[in-house]
Amino acid sequence: MTVIDGKAVSAKVKAEVAEEIKKLCREPERAPGLAVVLVGEDPASQVYVRNKKRACEACGINSFEYLLSAGESEERLLELIDSLNRDESVDGILVQMPLPKHISPARVTESIDPYKDVDGFHSQNVGLLTQGTPRFAPCTPLGVMRLLAEYGVEVKGKNCLVVGRSNIVGKPMSALLLAADGTVTTAHSRTADLAFHTRNADIIVAACGRPGMITGDMVKEGAVLIDVGITRVDGALKGDLDFDSCARKASFITPVPGGVGPMTIAMLMRNTLRSYKLRKGIEV
Ligand code: GUN
Repeated sequence: MTVIDGKAVSAKVKAEVAEEIKKLCREPERAPGLAVVLVGEDPASQVYVRNKKRACEACGINSFEYLLSAGESEERLLELIDSLNRDESVDGILVQMPLPKHISPARVTESIDPYKDVDGFHSQNVGLLTQGTPRFAPCTPLGVMRLLAEYGVEVKGKNCLVVGRSNIVGKPMSALLLAADGTVTTAHSRTADLAFHTRNADIIVAACGRPGMITGDMVKEGAVLIDVGITRVDGALKGDLDFDSCARKASFITPVPGGVGPMTIAMLMRNTLRSYKLRKGIEV
């Protein structure tokens, strides 16, 4: 059994991005730029935004931060996005989710220039991913695919189970596994017999946000287990897998923290570089 080291793979991806930017963006060429918008003071979101800024610095990406108060109107946010869409020094725009209740996430997502949508949330990018010709795929599922590749896990022909159907993780995760020729099942909160599906799966990606929900007795011997869940329980971070019992069955398993988590920001750096190249007509 191998515990997948997300921190190490994340560092490797960021180093690759930094290296490519160093080659690509020699003076007087400008560096790629990422704008990150945070509305409100959610502590978890503040941590993410700080980490994104740090990763940008490490990769040689210019980061532009916009911190708006929780009471900011949707109209003002849309105006800001409009100005970022027109700003030539900005290649990627990310609006941190979740947004305050009075702001429509769909309206915000659709207002971002689809060529700057490094989150891959815009309907145009969702459509392209579904058609199997992605422009930008969401960062967390991309990070999972990179972990599988890095550890030599083949997806082709495997029974893949995604637990969760969110727009940020579950749905794009299923689309990416399908594009990699997996036989994909998407389970969710209304799935009648989850254990039936988990026991049949060669690869499970758990992204339902229910700590410890998948236990060792529910998984096949030798399965590859990827845990996207991060829930704070009594001050500690818990994944959707019950780690100890699952680890006894798995061939590969990701820990929480230190598994999928660090990959999201690394893939955001990759997507920002990709956006820079697409916008400059450089082959990706
Ligand atoms: N909140 C949690 N994950 C994400 C993400 O990948 N992108 C954005 N914009 N917000 C998030």
